[in-house]
Amino acid sequence: MLNILRIIAYTIGSVVFGPILAVYLTFYGDLYSLSKTYKILEKISDEWDLLLHFGLFWIGFYSMLSLWIEYKKFKNKPPKLQWWQTETIYQIYIRSFFDSNNDGCGDLRGIIQKLDYIKSLGTNAIWITPMYPSGGKDGGYDISSFTEIDPTLGTMNDFDDLVEEVHKRNMYILLDFIPNHTSNLHKWFQESSKNNDPKNPYRDYYVWYPSEDKINPPNNWVSCFGGSAWTYNETRKAWYLHQFLKEQPDLNYRCPEVKKEVENAMKFWLNEKNVDGFRVDAFRHLFEDRNFEDEPLVENKNGLKNAALEYDDLEHTKTADQTETFELLTEWRKMFDDISRKTNRPRALIVECTSDLKDIGKYYEYNKKPSANFALNFQFCNMNKIVDINSNEIDSSYRPKNVEKLINDYLKCLPKNSWSNWHTGNHDNMRVASRIGEEYVDLANALNFLIGGTSIVYYGEEIGMIDLPKECLKFEECQDEKGKKYGPKEYLERTRDFCRTPFQWTNGKNSGFSSSDKTWLPINPNYKFLNVESQLKEYRSHLKVFKDLVNLRRSPSFQWGSYKTIVVNDQIFSFLRRAYGFPPFLVVMNFSNSSTQVNLLINSDIAPRGYVVYYHEGSSYNPSDYKLEYKVKSPVLTKNVKLNPFDLLILTWAPSE
Ligand code: GLC
Repeated sequence: MLNILRIIAYTIGSVVFGPILAVYLTFYGDLYSLSKTYKILEKISDEWDLLLHFGLFWIGFYSMLSLWIEYKKFKNKPPKLQWWQTETIYQIYIRSFFDSNNDGCGDLRGIIQKLDYIKSLGTNAIWITPMYPSGGKDGGYDISSFTEIDPTLGTMNDFDDLVEEVHKRNMYILLDFIPNHTSNLHKWFQESSKNNDPKNPYRDYYVWYPSEDKINPPNNWVSCFGGSAWTYNETRKAWYLHQFLKEQPDLNYRCPEVKKEVENAMKFWLNEKNVDGFRVDAFRHLFEDRNFEDEPLVENKNGLKNAALEYDDLEHTKTADQTETFELLTEWRKMFDDISRKTNRPRALIVECTSDLKDIGKYYEYNKKPSANFALNFQFCNMNKIVDINSNEIDSSYRPKNVEKLINDYLKCLPKNSWSNWHTGNHDNMRVASRIGEEYVDLANALNFLIGGTSIVYYGEEIGMIDLPKECLKFEECQDEKGKKYGPKEYLERTRDFCRTPFQWTNGKNSGFSSSDKTWLPINPNYKFLNVESQLKEYRSHLKVFKDLVNLRRSPSFQWGSYKTIVVNDQIFSFLRRAYGFPPFLVVMNFSNSSTQVNLLINSDIAPRGYVVYYHEGSSYNPSDYKLEYKVKSPVLTKNVKLNPFDLLILTWAPSE
């Protein structure tokens, strides 16, 4: 295409503008007299003068055109991407991944044994949930020592081996790091709660509020897990702050020693243990208002104000997203960059960010300084929070318009030149199959991998694992304190255990997860037919679609190309991904349970004819009635694309530029 453009431009330049300009210069220009003055080309004739001008013009025009082409090439140059941008990240909930020592609980050696499986998925980076010693109240998110390993999960030797095995396979490892709070069993808290004596070196490690009043907490702040964010400590005669469980006291980042201790812990893992980065937990909660002022109550729909009992009852103007929080993040980024430079290995700083979209930019850059490499994007996990404008009701369905809105809202708020990311679920949310529907598993994975930015996958989503049915979790078996603290009547509504059950490897004992007689959480009984082993054998399976999509994500247009929705209606969600000079991809999904036909040839970005790169028939999983509508490489008229329920079709054509 470029060549044709160039020829057309040269022809117009030479044939039309060239003579006009040359004639103009001949009669009104100074070249003729100049040549005489300096005695060059003394015998220049009018004809030669005309030709000379014509030639000069042609050279000028050619140079301008070349410059323009070079500029375009430069502007569209493939970016240099880091591993945390190119690789798909696989999140491992350690306790449920694979049990290597048959105690019923997953562990570090279990991960080592399954690294080849993870690699075979095409997911080359892992994020492991906390493996530090902990109080055991919040799945390891209540750390009791920042630089050791929980003995139930392994030893430091096991950890070293894990890092080595990961790197041997050209993979990367991210640790979960929890700077906002510790366990109440941490030595720092044990010491800090002893007294308020200035000689106590740990006195200011936590957020304390001295008071004789044991009944009324200092203010209305509410914990993320419900109830007051304050608990009274009899020994110290003061309230301490905990934005999560009462067993997770908040660290005080205005105490210089705390900052130093935590930074040293991070350096330990980055420098001495060679990890590739961190997913930093609950970062927005690091600082709170110095004056402990109340937070405003959220007005409910009727204009009435709720009593602050639940986290969502308050606007978190005093306990989250504070200025100092953002400033600290820029310091940490500098620390990460320094380490990357010194060791010549890029380390990733990824932060959990459940803030409003409008605040997201501050996690990428603050005061003109870079902050996180990226802030985790929860848009797809929040699918159930979309409000239908017509009815004012929450519309949790995976409707194309909802999906479009979620994506656009996020992309609009993302600062220019920053890197996006997607994940459809994690250890705090219901699984896709349970939250949205089993029929959406492949489409949700396709969205995760194909929209652009880094894709993060929660273990088990590759086979479409389903939440544990409620009747399978007795109160005594509940592990998550967030649920347990509400007692036998309410735990089922609050616990996050359902999405944390042991991985379903096979249809054998304990789903091939452990050979112990009891596993730490019950296994979903559907493991008999829903497991890795069977999906590897099946002609078509979620696992196979998953692998194909992870691979497709490696194509330049999917890695860094532009994103543009094409047709979005009640059934179809379609978008175009295009990187300059590479084949574009038109992704078309039918989100409905009925067949449909769509004209995608709606603007000049779309070629009249596309070739099938990938087709997944979503409506049927039974190989016997498996009828492929489209075959790879077959041509398709984009004016008339037919899709069966839940189909996914990806087309391509030659790059236009
Ligand atoms: C994050 C974690 C969650 C944990 C909480 C407190 O939100 O994802 O599992 O309970 O922080 O650490």
